[in-house]
Amino acid sequence: MSNRFNQNIQLGVLGGGQLGRMLIQSAINFNLDVHILDPDDNAPCKTIATHFTKGPLTDYDTVYHWGKKLDLITIEIENVNVEALKALQKEGKKVYPQPEVIELIQDKRVQKQFYEKHKIPTSPFVLVENKEDVKKHLNFLPAVNKLGREGYDGRGVQKIKTEQDIALAFDKPGLLEKFVDFEKEISVIVARNENKETSTFPVVELVFHPVHNLVEYLFAPAEISQEQAAKAEAIAIQIIEKLDMVGLLAVEMFITRDGDVLVNEIAPRTHNSGHQTIEANITSQFEQHLRAVLNLPLGATDAKIPSAMVNLLGEDNYSGEAKYTGMDAVLAIPGVAIHLYGKKLTKPFRKMGHITIVDQDVERLKEKANKVKETLKVIA
Ligand SMILES: Nc1ncnc2c1ncn2[C@@H]1O[C@H](COP(=O)(O)OP(=O)(O)O)[C@@H](O)[C@H]1O
Ligand SMILES: [Mg+2]
Repeated sequence: MSNRFNQNIQLGVLGGGQLGRMLIQSAINFNLDVHILDPDDNAPCKTIATHFTKGPLTDYDTVYHWGKKLDLITIEIENVNVEALKALQKEGKKVYPQPEVIELIQDKRVQKQFYEKHKIPTSPFVLVENKEDVKKHLNFLPAVNKLGREGYDGRGVQKIKTEQDIALAFDKPGLLEKFVDFEKEISVIVARNENKETSTFPVVELVFHPVHNLVEYLFAPAEISQEQAAKAEAIAIQIIEKLDMVGLLAVEMFITRDGDVLVNEIAPRTHNSGHQTIEANITSQFEQHLRAVLNLPLGATDAKIPSAMVNLLGEDNYSGEAKYTGMDAVLAIPGVAIHLYGKKLTKPFRKMGHITIVDQDVERLKEKANKVKETLKVIA
C-alpha cells in the first residue's frame, strides 16, 4: 500500500465474534467494507458486517474461495486454515498477521521452541506426546500440562502439582511447563506495520477466575515497577520483531515472586486484555490493528485515565435467551461503559460482553469495578 489511502479496499476477517464486532466499529471510521467468515449463523458480526459468509474457518476450500474476492485478510481467532492463507498470499493478497506467524502460534509447543531459540524469558518446558509421557517427568513437577493445539480460555491447561494429578493430564501432544509461582499476570499489546514501526500499549494487569481461567478483571496501568514495565514492553517488541509480524500481538506474561518477567503465551490479534483501550487510551487496540495491517502510522497508545475492565460472563446455572440484571445500577456509576456482544443465548461462563470503568483515582476505580462485578449479571 502506498501513501495514498484506498477506502475501497476489501478487508476480510476470519472469525465473526466479539473481536471482529469491535474491529468493525473501528473500520467504519475508515469507511472500509468488512467481509466476515464465521461458522455461526448468529455470530456477533452477522448483522453489522458489510458481507457475512457462513462457513468453517478451518476448511481449505471455504477460506480460499472466500479470500479470492478480497484485498487484505486478517483474523480475530487463530484456529483458521493456514494453507489456504498461504495460497492467497502467494497470489498477492495481503495476509496480516502472516500465515507463518499464525501457524507458529497455533501450536504452543512451537511457540515455546520459538522463545527458547530467541532466548526470550519463559518457564522451562518439556514436550510430551501423551499421558504416559507425562509420568516420565515426575522430577519436573509441579508443572502445567498444556495441549499443543486448540486449547483456549483455559480449556487446554491442566495443573499437575503432584503425581496423583497425572490422572488429569491430556492424552494428546502437548507440553509440560514448570509451574510458575507468579505474583501477577500482565499483558502487553504491541503493534507493527509494514514500515516496521512498532508501538506498545501500557502494561495491564489481569486477574483470573480461580477455577475457569477466564480474565475476570483487568486494571490499567499495571501496578508494577517501571523496570518491570520497561522489560515487559521490550520483550513484546522483541517478539513481534523476531516474528517479523505485521498486525497486533498480545503478549501474556507473568511477574514472578522474584520480580522476573516471563512470557506465558502470545496471540496475534486483538485481545481481551486490550478492551479498555476503547475508552481509556488515545488509540484503541482495534484502530491500532487496522492502522498496522493497512500500513498507516501507528496511533498514540497513552492512557488518558486509569481503567478497569470486567468480563460479563453468563451466570452459572443459566442457559437460554440472555437477560441482564443490574444494568441501571451499573450505568448510574460515573465512568462506566457497557459493551454487549450481540449474543442471543447465554450459557455458564460464556463471554456475553464487557464493562469498562474509568476513574482518575485508582482505589475508587477498583471499588467501582467490584461493584460492577457484583451487580451486573447475565441470566436467562
Ligand atoms: N506455567 C504456569 N504456571 C502457573 N500458572 C500457569 C502456567 N501457565 C498457565 N498458567 C495459568 O493458566 C492460565 C491459562 O494458561 P494459558 O497458557 O494462557 O492458556 P489459554 O490459552 O487458555 O489462555 C494462565 O493465564 C495462568 O493463570
Ligand atoms: Mg492465555
